[in-house]
Amino acid sequence: MSTEIPSLPLNNGTSVPQLGYGVFKVPPEQTRELVLTALEAGYRHIDTAQMYRNERGVGEAIAAAGLPRDELFVTTKLNNAFHEHDAALEAFDRSLEELGLDHVDLFLIHWPLPAVGRFVEAWGALEELYRSGRARAIGTSNFQPQHLRRILAEGTVVPAVNQVEIHPWFGNEEVRAFDAEHDIVTEAWSPLGRGRVLEDPTLARIATDHDRTPAQVVLRWHVQRGDVVFPKSATPSRIRENLEIFDFELSGEDMAAITGLDRDERIGSHPDHMNNTGR
Ligand SMILES: NC(=O)c1ccc[n+]([C@@H]2O[C@H](COP(=O)([O-])OP(=O)(O)OC[C@H]3O[C@@H](n4cnc5c(N)ncnc54)[C@H](OP(=O)(O)O)[C@@H]3O)[C@@H](O)[C@H]2O)c1
Repeated sequence: MSTEIPSLPLNNGTSVPQLGYGVFKVPPEQTRELVLTALEAGYRHIDTAQMYRNERGVGEAIAAAGLPRDELFVTTKLNNAFHEHDAALEAFDRSLEELGLDHVDLFLIHWPLPAVGRFVEAWGALEELYRSGRARAIGTSNFQPQHLRRILAEGTVVPAVNQVEIHPWFGNEEVRAFDAEHDIVTEAWSPLGRGRVLEDPTLARIATDHDRTPAQVVLRWHVQRGDVVFPKSATPSRIRENLEIFDFELSGEDMAAITGLDRDERIGSHPDHMNNTGR
């Protein structure tokens, strides 16, 4: 079985590596070094955001790694404070400057902020960035079906991905089904449930059966379900461990046992109630 990271096709003809490195809560001063560790280990997909305040470190690591730009997949996300059209465009310019890049591979609206009520306006700005080629693909994050329905009805570009919370305690099946029905790739954030799910005895048993760690088993479960993942770790050995998931396979029984751990328990905010713009 191949150990290469597979890519999934997106609905606009581009593709995304199914495993990446996420940098939420990676401190800005450690970002350059940790992203460089990830790139040297073999990751080619980095998931950052304006709100993580570490795009500069991501850019410095990319520059230091010296890899061909077309081998990298870089995602960033619109800060909640900037859903207004011109503010979104200006924020995007700042991201490119911080990253030291002339385009990103994916730009997402980070949260829909339903009470703010401007995500369709923000989407219009993302569509312009997409048409300009400076965002090779655009998508959403934390969008529930009712938010996506508005984008599909009022926008002209179908989101390429929807990035939402998913881990063994929270399967988020309704959103995954909606995404699949509309040719939108689902990306699973907090794929390890921020490490909290890893103590589960079912995962320990399956990990022992396959001579793997619980984290590798959980990441493999996501990948076999067809979702994209980008676990975060500030620990170099774990960064490398999380890559070693493409040379073993979970059985149907293993998959069902992990899916059966769903408790409908979110770790992060509910998108219907998250309206914090940080202002
Ligand atoms: N769109 C959104 O709203 C949103 C929200 C949250 C996250 N995200 C994205 O998703 C990425 C991942 O989510 P996350 O950072 O929230 O959580 P996560 O990846 O589910 O879990 C990270 C935690 O798991 C630990 N860990 C990582 N690998 C491990 C391993 N092999 N064994 C044991 N523990 C391990 C890490 O510890 P150490 O760091 O100490 O090693 C850290 O505490 C983020 O970095 C971000 O890119 C997006």
